[in-house]
Order: sequence, then C-alpha cells, then structure tokens
Amino acid sequence: MKNIILIGFMGAGKTTIGQKLARRLAMDFVDTDQQIEKEQHCTIGKIFRDKGEVQFRRMETELLSRLSGCEHTVISVGGGLPVQTENHEYLKNIGKTVYLKAEKETLVERLKGGAGRPLLQGGELEHKITELMQKRESIYERVADTVLKTDRKSPGQIVDELERILCDEC
Ligand code: S3P
Repeated sequence: MKNIILIGFMGAGKTTIGQKLARRLAMDFVDTDQQIEKEQHCTIGKIFRDKGEVQFRRMETELLSRLSGCEHTVISVGGGLPVQTENHEYLKNIGKTVYLKAEKETLVERLKGGAGRPLLQGGELEHKITELMQKRESIYERVADTVLKTDRKSPGQIVDELERILCDEC
C-alpha cells in the first residue's frame, strides 16, 4: 500500500486513529501539525499568533509537497489543509484519502475544554463548528476516496473498519 491520508474536521480523531492504523499496518506515521511544530520549534497557536493563518497554510502546502516522496506512510493532516485548492493535486497523488466523518454533536463533545486550536478560540464553540463545517463538509466529501463515519465508535473499532476497507481495496 502506498500512503493513506486521513482528513476531517478538528476533533475527528485523525491523529489518534492515524497512529493506531500505522502501528496496525506496520506503516510509518506523519501528522502535519506535529511535523510543522517540530520544524518551526513552535506551537501551531504561536504560529497563528506571530505569523498568521496565511503563513501557516503556506507551511502546510510546502510540507505536503515534500510528503509526495513518502511511501508506506499514514499521514494525518490538519483540518484546514484539504480546504486549500492548491493541496488537492498533492492529496490525489500522495495516496488514498479517507475522510473521518463526525457529527457536530460528537465534535462539540470532543473539542469542548480543549485549548490550542486557534480557529476555535473566542465565541461559542458550537456556532464556530457549525460555521466551519458548512464551509468544509462538501470539500472533505469531494476530496476523499472513502468516507468513514466515526460517531459512537471507539478508536479500535474505527481502525478495524479502516483495515477492512483498505485491505479489501488493495
Ligand atoms: C485547523 C486544524 C488544526 C490545525 C490548525 C488549523 C483547521 O489541526 O491545523 O489549528 O483549520 O481546521 P487538527 O485538525 O489536527 O486539529
């Protein structure tokens, strides 16, 4: 299997599921947010504060272009990365893209109390999630090769399902 890319909204579980899936399939794992933080020696929050979102999006695209050289890797990407049109061609070429889909209620539950996501700071959490989801949902669906619903499923169940889906197709 070449690479698997996990996309979805903040709180969808991309990092947790990605790590577990990579372990299960004996693949490497990269998380774009973690990689950017490592390379910039800086948190995502601070990058947004000091350099701004536009600059962060450039970092994502530049990293994605480098990840085109990966093989046998599970890549979980930040929730806003698939929204940028310039990233679509990279995503298509890098590997198979799976949208980890979650209902708004699930996301609110998972994201409440969680600091560190600049786009969710200030204002009412549910309202912010609703607004962003309206803009992004159709893009995620369009970019993904496969959509997997994650509500009321444990990480283990999700990884089992992913393994079945991906191995049936390979
Ligand atoms: C963002 C999602 C975050 C992170 C940044 C912006 C977004 O990643 O990249 O805060 O625009 O949805 P996660 O989806 O891993 O939380």
